[in-house]
Amino acid sequence: MKWIAVSGSLRRDSFNTRLTRTLAARAPEGVTVACATLHGIPLYDGDLEERDGVPEAVEALRQRICDADGLILATPEYNGGMPGVFKNALDWLTRPPEVMGPTFANRPTALCGATPGGLGTTLAQAGSLVTLRQLKVALFPDHLRISQAGDALGEAGPEDRTARQIDRWLRGFAEFAERG
Ligand code: FNR
Repeated sequence: MKWIAVSGSLRRDSFNTRLTRTLAARAPEGVTVACATLHGIPLYDGDLEERDGVPEAVEALRQRICDADGLILATPEYNGGMPGVFKNALDWLTRPPEVMGPTFANRPTALCGATPGGLGTTLAQAGSLVTLRQLKVALFPDHLRISQAGDALGEAGPEDRTARQIDRWLRGFAEFAERG
């Protein structure tokens, strides 16, 4: 299986981007995980869409999602919600409306997130459920939450406890995605 893991942070040293890389490095046997970020995606503007169509960066990401057997969304938490840049990207990815189904509907999708705080992006994940329901993804019910991300996802690799948590979660998502 081929999965794509999208980080919802643009920050160079982002914990969520680091989390996507950790997932790629620890992918279960038979799975490859490609990492993606949201760089190059402009703010959604209906006038821009009408004038120039859907931006290349959005189309490129959509193609990668459509080619994947599984989609992983790694969301930071800003003020208890998904960051605007992530929601903005999801909005662009549903334009024009007829591409929404082929891009998202029934696609095995997993939510994860990392924060230096103690609640593992619980609120951002809960908030994003409304949007993911709208997109009709097949959502893996187990969400991966990484707290104290600086230690948990150390620069040299995850702590043992976190590595075990990640491996268990990846195996669970592989079973979920295989069931289709
Ligand atoms: C945050 N941060 C944060 N963390 C959290 O656990 N709950 C929250 O509600 C918030 N709110 C928040 C608002 C704003 C505007 C910023 C910039 C940050 C901290 C956040 O988790 C931290 O900056 C992470 O490092 C962001 O993720 P990346 O960029 O490391 O992936």
